[in-house]
Amino acid sequence: MGGEFNTYMPKSTVTFMCSECGGESLRWAGQCPHCQAWNTLQEFQVRKAAAGRRQQPAPASASRPVPLNEIETESASRRPLAWGELNRVLGGGVVPGSVVLVGGEPGVGKSTLLMHVAQQVAAGDGRRVLYASGEESPQQVRLRAARLGPLSPGILLMAENDLDAICEAIRAEMPQLAVVDSIQTVIDAGFEGGAGSVTQVRESAARLMRLAKEIGVPIFLVGHVTKDGAIAGPRVLEHIVDTVLYLEGDRRQELRILRAMKNRFGSAEEIGVFAMGEKGLEEVPDPSAALLGGAALPSPGTAVVVVLEGTRPLLIEIQSLVNKLDANYPPRRIASGMDINRLHMIIAVLEKRAATALGKSDIFVNVAGGIRITEPAADLGLALSIYSNTRDRPLPDGLVVIGELGLAGEVRRVGQLERRLHEAARHGLTRALIPAGAKGHWGRRSPPHFFHPSGPAHS
Ligand code: TYD
Ligand code: MG
Repeated sequence: MGGEFNTYMPKSTVTFMCSECGGESLRWAGQCPHCQAWNTLQEFQVRKAAAGRRQQPAPASASRPVPLNEIETESASRRPLAWGELNRVLGGGVVPGSVVLVGGEPGVGKSTLLMHVAQQVAAGDGRRVLYASGEESPQQVRLRAARLGPLSPGILLMAENDLDAICEAIRAEMPQLAVVDSIQTVIDAGFEGGAGSVTQVRESAARLMRLAKEIGVPIFLVGHVTKDGAIAGPRVLEHIVDTVLYLEGDRRQELRILRAMKNRFGSAEEIGVFAMGEKGLEEVPDPSAALLGGAALPSPGTAVVVVLEGTRPLLIEIQSLVNKLDANYPPRRIASGMDINRLHMIIAVLEKRAATALGKSDIFVNVAGGIRITEPAADLGLALSIYSNTRDRPLPDGLVVIGELGLAGEVRRVGQLERRLHEAARHGLTRALIPAGAKGHWGRRSPPHFFHPSGPAHS
């Protein structure tokens, strides 16, 4: 293409940012060079002077050097919430002055989760939470809150999207927690662009971050994940905030997973598990039991695997349905709850290494409970679930399958085998198929081996 495009350089104050991944580009393009999304680049104004004008002078204490041993440790100042599942993901509780972004698709339950958080923080005398909602009317918010629990007088609601007003209210009330629902509806009058544009979303979050650090109030932000890039997604903010949590789950199912993607104050690998019901969310401290709860008698095509989410082992049921086609239609492969490419790979390995003809069959795979499997440790279970359905023979009763599959058809070892086996034993499974040569013990046979303090069974 013509070189004249390459000579164009925008002024140094203007760059382009992808509303999907937050990647910056010097020039506009139809496709983001970072994440390959289309039509997501938006002009982003870096206005140093304007930002400085709004910035409050830092408090004297913030710029004074402090002896290392006088610095308060985070664990000391963390405020635990009522739900262990929330504390696990947050790294122990809410850190004063921290900014936590809760991202997720519309309707997954972000506002519901944050109202639960608000109720837990506001429980107790003289405790206040400021909930700023730019999405719903006060009536709607009240109706939801009433479904979740008693209406606490400590929760102050503001139907507002003007950032000046929200910041002023936070300063005036000095609550134990502030919630901004959502960051994409907030407008900072000092910047150009409509609500949800990358400039507005970034600058608003940066300003709330400065405020949180200055006055020590923790702020939770809701961020919608959008597929079309029409508004700036939470990834635009990942570098700004302290903690990024994503709420995932299939809206038609109960289970919701809150996953830490970034955490300055804790592990970025933990998940918390919740169930959405009539009265909002409930924590699910033993997700394996919930996930296996629906497992009926062994049926052809069902396999139980155990995957690790952070430090936590989860027993999950994989179901496959293999339908032989009469005609020469291109076969369909549909995976729900896992990467379709992983399914393609497992099918290829089965065909080539296990002489299983699948080329003329539709294959549907479903992971029970709306969970998403990302760990290769589930490979062998997936392969056996497909194989079992093809042969119309169920796998043995009480079996858990653990192992990664290589392209040569070899079963590879996986990490933390004992932790996985222990979880299986704890839930009444009696047999395990594990990689050859791997050392594993059932918790039941050698309990002392497993009862160390960091064991998952006690958390
Ligand atoms: P919401 O928290 O509004 O989602 P988000 O803020 O992420 O857009 O949750 C909306 C969904 O949750 C909605 O489909 C209804 C469902 N829901 C329940 O099933 N039970 C409840 O008690 C509540 C409050 C919501
Ligand atoms: Mg909402």
